[in-house]
Amino acid sequence: MKSKKLFNVSRKLFPGGVNSPVRFYDPYPLFIKKGKGSKIFDVDGNKFIDFCLAYGPLILGHSDASVKNAVKKQLENGWLFGAPTEEEILLAKIINESIPYMEMMRFVSSGTEATMHAIRLARAYTNRKKIVKVFGGFHGSHDSVLVSPGSGAIGIPSSPGIPDEISANTLVVDYNNTEEIKKVFENNKDEIAAIIIEPVLGNVGVIPPLDGYLKMIREITTDNNSLLIFDEVITGFRFHYGSAGQYFNVEPDLTILGKIVGGGFPLAVFGGKEDIMKNISPSGNVYQAGTFSGNPISMVAGIATLKKLKNKDYKNLENRVSIINKYVEDAKNDKKIDLQLNSMVSMFQIFFNKNEIKNYNDALKSNTANFKKFFNKLLDRGFYIPPSQFESLFISFSHTKKEVEDFGRIIYEGL
Ligand SMILES: Cc1ncc(COP(=O)(O)O)c(C=O)c1O
Repeated sequence: MKSKKLFNVSRKLFPGGVNSPVRFYDPYPLFIKKGKGSKIFDVDGNKFIDFCLAYGPLILGHSDASVKNAVKKQLENGWLFGAPTEEEILLAKIINESIPYMEMMRFVSSGTEATMHAIRLARAYTNRKKIVKVFGGFHGSHDSVLVSPGSGAIGIPSSPGIPDEISANTLVVDYNNTEEIKKVFENNKDEIAAIIIEPVLGNVGVIPPLDGYLKMIREITTDNNSLLIFDEVITGFRFHYGSAGQYFNVEPDLTILGKIVGGGFPLAVFGGKEDIMKNISPSGNVYQAGTFSGNPISMVAGIATLKKLKNKDYKNLENRVSIINKYVEDAKNDKKIDLQLNSMVSMFQIFFNKNEIKNYNDALKSNTANFKKFFNKLLDRGFYIPPSQFESLFISFSHTKKEVEDFGRIIYEGL
């Protein structure tokens, strides 16, 4: 196996042999050579139907022709200038037209960067230090947000190297629990700069918000003069042509976009009302900068992706996921397999759990050994999904009904 050979080399070069931890799985990850539409091919020429889609950016599928052509064209003109380009304006206008409350924005290169700067901005704007996040909420890998979800404790670092002084300013509450949020605001009066939250959790599997939950956190942040930051790195342009904020009819103060918005190239965005955003340097004094920010390749890839998405019917994605759900329901009923499918339009996860999953602790009770068996079985049968129970699966406009049916049949077969 060529992947095995490559892994033996890569593990000497990169910690764990990979450049992002979730890419590792036992005994070694497959090395991927190319992708086209719904499929990827490994270095040994094996073909897989891909429901990982690079952890979400590729909603059009791999190597989309419009994105590829836009990038090729831009390459002819050069790929980095460190100066403003018209393409930045074009993309910002498309985003602003589809999500009007993103009046002003800044382009950066990763979701981690975007949440880091949004939090700094929120702290500066409110002149407060503390932020609130939920257990299992993932906002990239910087110090303020990398706080352990373990055992309901608040403010405990999840990684050595994060000073206690920093994590003490991050308060963690249960997702979908309005009472906890109320208590946190009562106990930290006039100290909370912002709540940062994924409107639909996507990093513990998929967990949608309960009715009224997002509205409630909008109200409590407004009442306490705190900002509401929707981290839409996963959810932006995932449920419809726009934000999850619009989908749920809850307007945040700041929005983070990533993944889809760059069409598979490095791009994330943070933005919101001009009154808040203008505090970013150089019009304000909240410092933020980046060599690759707004680079023309990511701009044209984003423009091509969003232009294409505008004419797509997201109902098709939802229908595909409901086919999978039917197989899950049949497997539960006919075969008594403990499964739950949680989904929101085009993102979903199958939990090996007999109970409903409404928060992180519910998700943690899933049978990860069975998930692992499922993952390996899928690989054997030519399907590629994220190798963890606590990630989301994604579906693209390239996936066919047959591919989805075939995937569903494997679920029905059992482990
Ligand atoms: C919700 C959310 N926020 C932030 C990030 C970090 O984004 P990036 O990996 O681009 O730094 C991720 C990454 O998966 C994410 O899912």
